[in-house]
Amino acid sequence: MPMLEVEGLRVRYGSLEAVKGVGFHIDEGQVVALIGSNGAGKSTTLRALAGVQPLAAGRIRFLGQELQQLPADQRVRRGIALSPEGRRLFARMTVLDNLLAGAHAVRGAAPRRETLDEVFALFPRVHERRQQLAGSLSGGEQQMVAIGRALMARPRLLMLDEPSLGIAPKVVAEIADAVQRLNQRGMSVLLVEQNARLALRLAHHAYALEHGEVVVQGRGEALLDDPFVRKAYLGV
Ligand SMILES: Nc1ncnc2c1ncn2[C@@H]1O[C@H](COP(=O)(O)OP(=O)(O)OP(=O)(O)O)[C@@H](O)[C@H]1O
Ligand SMILES: [Mg+2]
Repeated sequence: MPMLEVEGLRVRYGSLEAVKGVGFHIDEGQVVALIGSNGAGKSTTLRALAGVQPLAAGRIRFLGQELQQLPADQRVRRGIALSPEGRRLFARMTVLDNLLAGAHAVRGAAPRRETLDEVFALFPRVHERRQQLAGSLSGGEQQMVAIGRALMARPRLLMLDEPSLGIAPKVVAEIADAVQRLNQRGMSVLLVEQNARLALRLAHHAYALEHGEVVVQGRGEALLDDPFVRKAYLGV
């Protein structure tokens, strides 16, 4: 049974239907990518899964339980955490306090401390800058903090919305490497990227969204060679 099963997901913003019956699944231990151009509905899909955007219709089954009725904090407790598009850090709080904000659903100081150490081991630069205000960090460093904050919830499924956006190539490589290391330790990942090449390299399976619908899906590597995907998303 897949870890996450999404069926017939629909989300509206007033009269605009941004997500029109999207379905996909994630097996435990997989990296799954959602690719697609601007406005395709990728972020809306992630926000609907996280419970910060209401559904018009659809089912979300995670680890055998239906989530669509649960508020966002309950979904975090069940093991889904989102690192949102644009990072959304508290700029005037320290890096450490931003990280701890991600752990509010975690009971007990020991697991919190242990997870913090794991985040610092994954991103040594975040450790170096833990006492700085988050707003003073570079974009790439802030992205690491945003991922770290999501990890502080000790998720089973980590959702990353555009982790490479606006970041220098060298730092993108570091973040991609971190995603791979997390996955090698068993973390499942739902990755949203406009950088389709990066996403398809990292993903076991990928789905392309257009105008709120899945238009292609397949193995990550296979889609790198798919003529439609190459033309539409890889610029070749
Ligand atoms: N809060 C909102 N209110 C109204 N419309 C919205 C809102 N957020 C997104 N939309 C619209 O919903 C559609 C899907 O947007 P969404 O942000 O999910 O796309 P996306 O695939 O993440 O795009 P991008 O790659 O630019 O981040 C777009 O037409 C967008 O303009
Ligand atoms: Mg988006």
